[in-house]
Amino acid sequence: MAVVNMREMLHEAQQGGYAVGAFNILDYNSLRAVVDAAAELAAPVIIQTSVKTVQFWGYKPLIQWYGQLAGGAAVPVAIHLDHCKDLKVIRNCIDHGWTSVMIDASSKPFAENLALTRQVVEMAAPKGITVEAEMGAIVGVEDDIHVKEQEAHLADAEEACRFCSEVSLDCFAPAIGTAHGVYKGEPKIAFDRLEEIARRTGLPLALHGGTGLSDEVFQRCISLGCAKVNISTQLKYAHIDGFVEYHREHEAEYNPLKNLAAQYERLKAGVAKDIVLFGSAGTA
Ligand code: 13P
Repeated sequence: MAVVNMREMLHEAQQGGYAVGAFNILDYNSLRAVVDAAAELAAPVIIQTSVKTVQFWGYKPLIQWYGQLAGGAAVPVAIHLDHCKDLKVIRNCIDHGWTSVMIDASSKPFAENLALTRQVVEMAAPKGITVEAEMGAIVGVEDDIHVKEQEAHLADAEEACRFCSEVSLDCFAPAIGTAHGVYKGEPKIAFDRLEEIARRTGLPLALHGGTGLSDEVFQRCISLGCAKVNISTQLKYAHIDGFVEYHREHEAEYNPLKNLAAQYERLKAGVAKDIVLFGSAGTA
């Protein structure tokens, strides 16, 4: 019952003026922490898997963990493939039970990005799988996609509207000045452009590069039309810090289950804080 795609949860978020958190998980412990945080706060949530995470674990273990945890949860939980350039990986995720996928052909020219995105929609839509696509270039490193500062560029509002009118998307990710990874300085967000793209496309927008943004930036982006917020780097830090700090504080103990318990608590606390901030607590 709680295994869903992103359509309804993003539509409701858009209508309700809040956002659904999309958290990049790394393993069973982080997946469990995200689902438990969402269930405790009665919030819809998106489990996000990067291509590297899929390649590390394989399709079957990931989808089984998801099915087990989401299937037993009282809140809607989607599983979404993050930034993927490879149609074979997308096809495999669709065949294995992912409920949502992102095609990232944003490094290609407009026509090619559109053609690849259409191909993915044709594969996904008949199976009820939702699709996110991207335009512009988001600075930083996400999985195996590296964009240098001098290569980054924002999505053009006119082109974004044309793109979204020519393919049936469930979620659109325009580059608006956020970055993947750790922010080096204050990000310059193109709020006007975000507002224009949200208004003219009518689509729920995805805010990428969530880790490190201020509460004010989150709230403003959400109020302007971001119905999905992506968080990855925060979970990477919590995963390692939770485990390592427990060890530093209990050097004589070699009981990894205790480290994993500390890691789980650290991950869950961060996710819960985000869910409250994004306004999705109590909406499921
Ligand atoms: P962060 O790593 O900055 O949280 O970005 C996550 C993201 O946008 C994943 O697609």
